[in-house]
Order: sequence, then C-alpha cells, then structure tokens
Amino acid sequence: MTLSMDENFARLLSLKDTMTPWALRAVVTLGVPDLLADGELGVAELARRTGVVPDALHRVLRLLAARGVFTEPAPGVYAPTSLSRLLESGQRCMSLHPWLDLDGAIGRGDRACVHILEALRTGLPVYERAYGRPVWEDLAADPALTASFDTAMASRATALAPAVATGYDWPSARHVLDAGGGTGTVLAELLRTHPHLRGTLLDRAPAVTAARDIWGATAEGRRCTFTPGSFFDALPLGADVILLVSVIHDWADEHAAAILRRCAEALPPDGRVLIAEHIRDDDAGATAGLLELDLLMLLVYGGRERNLPDFRELGERAGLRLGGVTEVGGGLSLLEFLL
Ligand SMILES: C[S@@+](CC[C@H](N)C(=O)[O-])C[C@H]1O[C@@H](n2cnc3c(N)ncnc32)[C@H](O)[C@@H]1O
Repeated sequence: MTLSMDENFARLLSLKDTMTPWALRAVVTLGVPDLLADGELGVAELARRTGVVPDALHRVLRLLAARGVFTEPAPGVYAPTSLSRLLESGQRCMSLHPWLDLDGAIGRGDRACVHILEALRTGLPVYERAYGRPVWEDLAADPALTASFDTAMASRATALAPAVATGYDWPSARHVLDAGGGTGTVLAELLRTHPHLRGTLLDRAPAVTAARDIWGATAEGRRCTFTPGSFFDALPLGADVILLVSVIHDWADEHAAAILRRCAEALPPDGRVLIAEHIRDDDAGATAGLLELDLLMLLVYGGRERNLPDFRELGERAGLRLGGVTEVGGGLSLLEFLL
C-alpha cells in the first residue's frame, strides 16, 4: 500500500513524538492514576496533592486525555480509563507503574537513553555516562533502586511464570537452580505446580533476601534453598536443570557465554540449561516491541536480543548443544541446552 505524502508526514510525526512518553512517565511518577482510582478530580486538587503547578499539570493531562489515557468529562476535570487503571501502583501483576516511574530503576535507565548517539559511536551502553557507574553497580549502591528493579521484574514474571511452569518437561527434572531468578516469582510457581521438584534461587543478596521474606515460609519455600551469589562465580552443585529467565539478554556475548559456562560446569552429565527469552525472528520480521527492547538492552545493560543462530553459537562457546526450542506464548520461548 502506498501512503500519500500527508499520511507519511502524519505517521512520522506520531513516531517522533517525545512528549507522550515523558508525560506518561511524569503522571505515573506523581501518582496521578492512583489519585484518580476512585473517580474524577479537578486539576487544582490533583496539583495540590502532587505538589506541582496546576497550569503545567493541566497541559500534561490534556495531552494524555487526547491520547486516551484519561478522560476529561468537564474542562479541567479528569477521570480514569481502562488504560490509566494499568498505571496504578500496588498491583503485583498487570501494572506498568514500576516500568514508568521515573524515580525507579527502570525509569532511571530510560532517562539514560538520551545519550543514544554515544551508544552508536561506541557500541557500548550509555548508563555509565549518565550516572557514573554501570547499571548493576548503580542499583547495588541504592537499596530503593534495587527494590524497585526487583518489583518491576516480579510484576513481569508473574505474567510469564505459568507459561514457564507448564511449557517444559518438568516431570523429568529433579532440582532446578534459577540463576538470576530475582525474587523467585517463576521458581515459586514452578515448585507450586510440580511438588516433586526441589529448587535453588540464586541472585544478588537483596533479591534473595526479599524472596525469602515473600515466599520462604510457604510449602514451596521449604523445598527451596535461597543462595545469594553471582552467576559469574562457581554455581551451587546439585541441580539437574539450570533456568535462566531473561538473564542472557542483559549481557554482551562474552559475559553471556561466561554465565553459560558456569552453568555447564555445575551440571551433572544428564543436566540441562533452560533459557527463557524472546527469540528475534529475522525471517518473519521481529516485532517492533522486541527491537525496542533490543536497543534498551544496548543502551542500559550492554546486552542484546538474539536470534536462534546467536543462541546456538553462544551455547557452543560454553560447550552446550542446543536441543529443543518451545514457544510458550507471549513471545517467550524455552531453549533447552544439553551438555
Ligand atoms: C532481567 S532480571 C530477570 C530476573 C528474573 N529471572 C525474572 O525473569 O524476573 C536479571 C536478574 O539478574 C540478576 N543479576 C544481575 N547480575 C547478577 C550476577 N552477577 N549474579 C546473579 N544475578 C545477577 C539481577 O539481580 C536480576 O534479578
């Protein structure tokens, strides 16, 4: 289909918009969707409760109402919509709040993306240029940032955990090590779904401590060992499946291969590594959403989204052979690697 010049122009104008993404993040950071959760409020009251200038807030809300995020039932009065419901805080699942809060870890990463030109010139992440240290060091230096990162990951993991727990031959497994498992949302679901399984959760100390606080006392928590540590060091022995959910895409090839090597070293001869990630499908045309994530991985973490040959090659660098690949929904695939 050929678009007219006007249509092309309009399309480009909507693609180049920077204001809607920032306006969205601003209202989430101020907690406006929460304030509107019970119904409509006037802009003066919203400005008073959020401590901002009424005229500026009005201009932001007017734009977001035009975009369908809120409605404006009367001039200067705003009301929630099904979109703004998804921006409310305090829901562990199905909230974009932790992803858009500019005071949180993910929002902090987004803000570093203004340095995209430098990433193009160097091929390296720009997070350090923005904040003086690489992302994982920066998060580790601030418990509130770490906690907000873990909350964002847990909200996402809640949505994908059932697919991981039902999309693989778990009955044949004995003991799963979830490496870089965050607060263990996926592992807890796995252990709940498969009562014969034992688990080990390995991540940075704050995430592991939070995990133990959240679900350590449950029936599945009693079948789990909570181990603070790094997946760049020797991994705990005993597991026959090592699970890596959305971990490998955080890292460039050298580091990603090093993580897989640690996994291979810790497994028994019949052991398996299971990577749960999106696979970039270059033939079918990768989705724009995944390509955005690919750029975010470059700019913030120095990682990347990979296609199937990339994953196969990465495994080979670690002495692992790609076995089965299963799509489990939501664009997520499980890649099984054998020794
Ligand atoms: C993108 S998150 C994925 C978390 C979890 N697997 C999930 O899907 O929700 C990456 C995880 O890697 C962890 N991580 C980063 N560096 C690590 C390291 N050196 N050793 C262990 N975990 C690490 C982070 O703390 C974080 O929990």
